[in-house]
Amino acid sequence: MKFTIAFMTVCLFFVSLLGVFAQLASARPVQKKRDVYSPRVLYPHNGTVWSKGQRHNVTWDTSNRPAEITNPIGEIHLAQAQGDIIYPLILASNFSVLDGRVEVEVPWVATSSDYTVVLFGDSGNASPAFTIQGPSIFGDEWP
Ligand SMILES: *[C@@H]1O[C@H](CO)[C@@H](O)[C@H](O)[C@H]1NC(C)=O
Ligand SMILES: *[C@@H]1O[C@H](CO)[C@@H](O)[C@H](O)[C@H]1NC(C)=O
Ligand SMILES: *[C@@H]1O[C@H](CO)[C@@H](O)[C@H](O)[C@H]1NC(C)=O
Repeated sequence: MKFTIAFMTVCLFFVSLLGVFAQLASARPVQKKRDVYSPRVLYPHNGTVWSKGQRHNVTWDTSNRPAEITNPIGEIHLAQAQGDIIYPLILASNFSVLDGRVEVEVPWVATSSDYTVVLFGDSGNASPAFTIQGPSIFGDEWP
């Protein structure tokens, strides 16, 4: 029984690794040469709780933008606040950082209260830490 659980855990680990590699393989090269503009992320913020599979609008402050931006294409990554881990998990891409919002689907990551989203435009800008919750294959969060 113990062996079975350990074996399944290893299998699921490799399945999720494959998913990460697929994401890496499809990642587009980062655009260069932009005016520096790093808008402040407004949502999610400290105290936000997202459930896996839900859809939410990530929003950011566009009030201090420079008059001209050569390339406003943005990308949103999931990261963990502790240890500055940036997952190769892209929640949204190919949107304009001038929009001030983009809808994302909460990914099926481990439940934790130290996630951040990083908005990449001209440079990266992270949100405050927030929580992603929901069921996990490792059992401790099942209802
Ligand atoms: C987040 O909010 C909690 C409670 O409202 C507070 O204790 C904590 O210091 C805040 N953290 C940050 C980074 O603002
Ligand atoms: C995100 O914002 C757009 C525009 O305001 C809205 O149409 C959409 O329903 C919002 N999505 C969610 C998940 O709230
Ligand atoms: C990015 O968005 C633009 C305009 O919405 C669209 O024309 C283009 O095909 C998109 N590119 C990719 C790689 O999805």
